[in-house]
Amino acid sequence: MSKVIISPSILSADFANLEQEISAVKKAGADWLHIDVMDGHFVPNITIGVPVVKSLRKVTGLILDTHLMIDNPDKFIHAFAQAGSDILTFHYEACADRAEEIIDKIKTEGVKAGISIKPKTDPREIIPFLNKVDLVLIMTVEPGFGGQEFMHECAMKIPVIKENAPKSLIIQVDGGINNLTSKICTSLGANSLVAGSYIFGNCDYIKAIKSLQQ
Ligand code: DX5
Ligand code: ZN
Repeated sequence: MSKVIISPSILSADFANLEQEISAVKKAGADWLHIDVMDGHFVPNITIGVPVVKSLRKVTGLILDTHLMIDNPDKFIHAFAQAGSDILTFHYEACADRAEEIIDKIKTEGVKAGISIKPKTDPREIIPFLNKVDLVLIMTVEPGFGGQEFMHECAMKIPVIKENAPKSLIIQVDGGINNLTSKICTSLGANSLVAGSYIFGNCDYIKAIKSLQQ
């Protein structure tokens, strides 16, 4: 099996020491850095915005995997791309009738495009876009907060996406990922794991990341 991409979610990192936290997960073997952007409308929480991404870009060479949990994602694509995001993943539910337009807009910025679905969304709805995106993010919790319990039924969407996707598609899962739920997802075909509380809540980042890679 090819290597699984580990993307620690900084939502569970120590925000007062982000630079140190990022360099620690990089040293521990992280492949990407997952940045959760929330607007208080699409999800009931507010987190990180463009200036933080811009600052992080200055201190890390890790791929900035930016998860936009926001309404009207098209309004912010240019700003996040300019700030240094390498991947921009938007939520299908935020703009279902304009998904293709949003994907094109992200690609025009020269960054990779991802599409994400919430737990209640049928994965078959995004099949028409699988040839256009680089990544599909399957939420395995309701987006908005770290530290929630993995929703097993969401993992069953992975094979639906995999069966209909080009080989190069990255299938990412996010929410409640730990050393056990990661195995469920990778065995079903996920090849990128986002983990926040499991990595940053562990006193040994190397051990935590290794356990996700196995
Ligand atoms: C939740 C975010 C996740 C979150 C995951 O809406 O999209 O990236 O940080 O946190 P854990 O891994 O703790 O479930
Ligand atoms: Zn996320």
